[in-house]
Amino acid sequence: MRSTKFSVIKKAVIGKDSQIHDQVNLYGCKIGKNTKIDSYVYIEEGVTIGDNCKIRPFVFIPTGVVIENDVFIAPNVTFTNDKHPRAHGKWSLLNTRVKSFASIGAGSTINPGVKIAENALIGAGSVVTKDIPENAIAVGIPARVIGYRDPPPNQGGSRVGKRGRTAQ
Ligand SMILES: CC(C)(COP(=O)(O)OP(=O)(O)OC[C@H]1O[C@@H](n2cnc3c(N)ncnc32)[C@H](O)[C@@H]1OP(=O)(O)O)[C@@H](O)C(=O)NCCC(=O)NCCS
Repeated sequence: MRSTKFSVIKKAVIGKDSQIHDQVNLYGCKIGKNTKIDSYVYIEEGVTIGDNCKIRPFVFIPTGVVIENDVFIAPNVTFTNDKHPRAHGKWSLLNTRVKSFASIGAGSTINPGVKIAENALIGAGSVVTKDIPENAIAVGIPARVIGYRDPPPNQGGSRVGKRGRTAQ
């Protein structure tokens, strides 16, 4: 692992070939292999991030979020969490899941408990309030589906062309 400066990293499990940049705060989370965590990223306890992900600067990921493999999270994305509305008195979090190959545009906010399905693309500045289907392009506040893109290359698609590109 590349050396990181001015970071607080406690009880975190970090996979082979992952890069943790400076000024990050990682507590009790699990990060897969070959994943890049840029500066000023804050990740809370119990968060899981998969392999080959890119988490760009100033991203906040609280407890309750699971991010699968090959996911791109652009700068200034904020995930949020909340208690389950029916969990009277008991601490039970809504779980948020970002499936493989999804891409979340800069400055977006992800509400608690949503599922962003495989290869979905969230436009910059969106607020995601509901589940987003696979390969969908969703934008705005609240985020609405405006189209679909090709599946990822290993599933018969290509990432080129309008509506086929990622936010990376
Ligand atoms: C979502 C995105 C991929 C759509 O790109 P596109 O398919 O080329 O879409 P278009 O630019 O043709 O826009 C289609 C419509 O959606 C609207 N739109 C596009 N992006 C939007 C966004 N982020 N929020 C709200 N509306 C958006 C456009 O205004 C347009 O509306 P209209 O049909 O009423 O004119 C792109 O706009 C985007 O947000 N990319 C993310 C950039 C980013 O965060 N990169 C991270 C690296 S720093």
